[in-house]
Amino acid sequence: MSNVPVAVVTGSNKGIGLAIVRALCKQFPGDVYLTSRDPDRGQAAVAQLQQEGLKPLFHQLDIDDPQSIRALRDFLKEKYGGLNVLVNNAGIAFKVNDTAPFAVQAEVTLKTNFFGTRNVCTELLPLIKPYGRVVNVSSMASNSALKGCSPELQQKFRSDTITEEELVQLMTKFVEDTKKNIHQKEGWPNTAYGVSKIGVTVLSRIQARLLNEQRKGDHILLNACCPGWVRTDMAGPKATKSPEEGAETPVYLALLPSSADAPHGQFVSDKTVRPW
Ligand SMILES: NC(=O)c1ccc[n+]([C@@H]2O[C@H](COP(=O)([O-])OP(=O)(O)OC[C@H]3O[C@@H](n4cnc5c(N)ncnc54)[C@H](OP(=O)(O)O)[C@@H]3O)[C@@H](O)[C@H]2O)c1
Repeated sequence: MSNVPVAVVTGSNKGIGLAIVRALCKQFPGDVYLTSRDPDRGQAAVAQLQQEGLKPLFHQLDIDDPQSIRALRDFLKEKYGGLNVLVNNAGIAFKVNDTAPFAVQAEVTLKTNFFGTRNVCTELLPLIKPYGRVVNVSSMASNSALKGCSPELQQKFRSDTITEEELVQLMTKFVEDTKKNIHQKEGWPNTAYGVSKIGVTVLSRIQARLLNEQRKGDHILLNACCPGWVRTDMAGPKATKSPEEGAETPVYLALLPSSADAPHGQFVSDKTVRPW
């Protein structure tokens, strides 16, 4: 088994994820895994970084596929006995002009951004080694979507005692409510992406709390963040930040020094803790 520290970035064949891998290859003292649901796209991205003189490693990972997640988990367990840094970056967003019915957009978006991310955490968080760092890439869209929720929903999402099961029930209810076209009556905002990222931010708060309760002595720091508005296939060419600039806050959180005890359980943008 290797004693080398290991970092994994989900959805890193392009965009912000690729920029995070590039930065980690330069700054993280260990093996850095570029992962992609499509091995060809992943290997092409690895080749691109190799041309820049960097040495990322590759593993397939489709966060929608529980078997793919378990294969990565088993690989990390066997080769490294765990994991030091996990960046949950993979995500999707329908384009504004997409004509798919809202209920379909809700189901598909929540499936990857919330349920897929949660499934990765369920399998990989138990592998995180002492002083490990976990970064869940959420979005400022989660904050604006929260403000668009009914006061009752806002209270639940801001609660310091909400459980993961309760969060899963709420995310499931959102998808069901969109199918019945009652989501707005039920207090939800009209944004599937925003609600999926509420899920990611609240999940991060819950996971940080559980780490405090169950693994306090392990000094693991887990946060949600927004990369900013970044020029990628998702956000388009008019966005204000380059992918490298978008990677700065996730990389800062992934490389928090072992002496740090904060931030933890926070929502961070531009390296600054934001109110939730
Ligand atoms: N760009 C922004 O302005 C912005 C702002 C706030 C937050 N974010 C968040 O930042 C993250 C990265 O976004 P981006 O702008 O870099 O988007 P992007 O260029 O569209 O890249 C998204 C990445 O996620 C991967 N992915 C999607 N579904 C996946 C799945 N089921 N399993 C594994 N990988 C999957 C994609 O793989 P494929 O190539 O196979 O599709 C791609 O590598 C997302 O979580 C996004 O919500 C972005």
